[in-house]
Amino acid sequence: MSVSESNHSSRSSSTVTSVTENRTALLKRAARDAMDYLEGVDARPVAPTAQAVTALNSLRGPLPPGPTSAETVLHLLHEFGSPATVGKNSGRFFGFVNGGCLPAALAASWMVSAWDQNAAFFVQSPTAVVLEEIALEWVRELLGLPVGTGGAVVTGATMANFSALSAARHELLARQGWDVEADGLFGAPPITVVVSEEAHASVTKALGLLGLGRNRVIRVPVDGQGRMRADALPHLDANTILCLQAGNVNTGAFDPAAAICPAARAAGAWIHVDGAFGLWAAASPEHHRWTKGFELADSWATDGHKWPNIGYDCGIALVRDPKTLKAAMSIDAAYLVQGERREPSHYNPELSRRARGVELWAGLRSLGRSGMAQIVSRTSEHARRFAAGLAAAGYTILNDVVINQVLVDFGSPEKTLATVARLQAEGTCWCGSTVWQGKTAMRISVSSWATTKEDVDRSLAAMLKAAKG
Ligand SMILES: Cc1ncc(COP(=O)(O)O)c(C=O)c1O
Repeated sequence: MSVSESNHSSRSSSTVTSVTENRTALLKRAARDAMDYLEGVDARPVAPTAQAVTALNSLRGPLPPGPTSAETVLHLLHEFGSPATVGKNSGRFFGFVNGGCLPAALAASWMVSAWDQNAAFFVQSPTAVVLEEIALEWVRELLGLPVGTGGAVVTGATMANFSALSAARHELLARQGWDVEADGLFGAPPITVVVSEEAHASVTKALGLLGLGRNRVIRVPVDGQGRMRADALPHLDANTILCLQAGNVNTGAFDPAAAICPAARAAGAWIHVDGAFGLWAAASPEHHRWTKGFELADSWATDGHKWPNIGYDCGIALVRDPKTLKAAMSIDAAYLVQGERREPSHYNPELSRRARGVELWAGLRSLGRSGMAQIVSRTSEHARRFAAGLAAAGYTILNDVVINQVLVDFGSPEKTLATVARLQAEGTCWCGSTVWQGKTAMRISVSSWATTKEDVDRSLAAMLKAAKG
């Protein structure tokens, strides 16, 4: 080795050492900042202050012409980013249907980022692909779905609805000799799509993305809880996609699958279930009854980031016959892997993708069957406690609280909206509003593993105070 070669190699090895040391120091600091954030989340208002949101402007400005040290970047994130987040991990965020993030899922997400795996193909990450397979099977078991069901981990229930419905579209058109993936929908035989008046907007969005049309659907009337009326179903046949719902985003109610599915199956319709959060009720012996009949469907969409508290983002598409999903989603290029093994990208709208299945695996592994059941039971009990406390104070609960969703009317649309605004500004907890069958309501969705009885009582007191004005 020449002198100059040896100098070069010793310089580069010391450079590598210092890069590693700097990275280690940075990651320790990031871990400290993250822990600092989580430890402080209980003491801060759930919604960020207006001041914190305004201070985000400090992060604006043109992209600097040269580099910024990673320490400075991290410092900026924690100083300005952390205070303007919504305190979802406080256990007192009851907006939308947002859970928190289980410790095991959070830690797994740090590992996933450190690994930087591309979970597209087995050769790119055996760990990511195998853990995703295991997690999908655990989800299937927890939801009580048929053996052989397979699917994909995606970004959320919207993409899960999209993915599952793409399998439905494939199958119905293939039955009529039409190759929709190759030839598209122009000139294709028509498909009938049946949804309820209360289908979640993500289902109609998915139908739009698939070329089936957001509005080109038959809408079945619902009852006072938002359940599809089995007696009002149109004619179903082998050319029909029937979309059911397990867990209405407002009331938590379930379509009567046991009354609908046997006949729909006999007619040859493809039954799809949007069970973004509600399907997880199947994991709880106490709530399992609501999910009866949904196992007869052909496809299901659900979320890891809602009731199982896996952290964002994590959705799951499941299909009784995974071949149909593969037919809709597979991707072909000379440099990509084909073959017999289950390759995620042949079941997924994505090619390159985060190893979300690892976080799902970790969260479910940490919970076990009983842990998942307890989240469902505990949060539903909290919902009932909210409903009882609000009803006792004279306010009207608009829904039957069957799972974790509560709708409350504070007397008039104005009073309800003013209560929601005062509550959000006060900061003890966070709830949003909705309109339920013509009535303005505050929504309480108890979805976080972290919510305690004390959180409920503190939040209830804040709600009653906000209602008084
Ligand atoms: C019933 C239902 N379906 C679908 C979705 C959409 O889920 P995501 O936001 O994960 O795409 C939601 C969200 O709340 C939902 O409640």
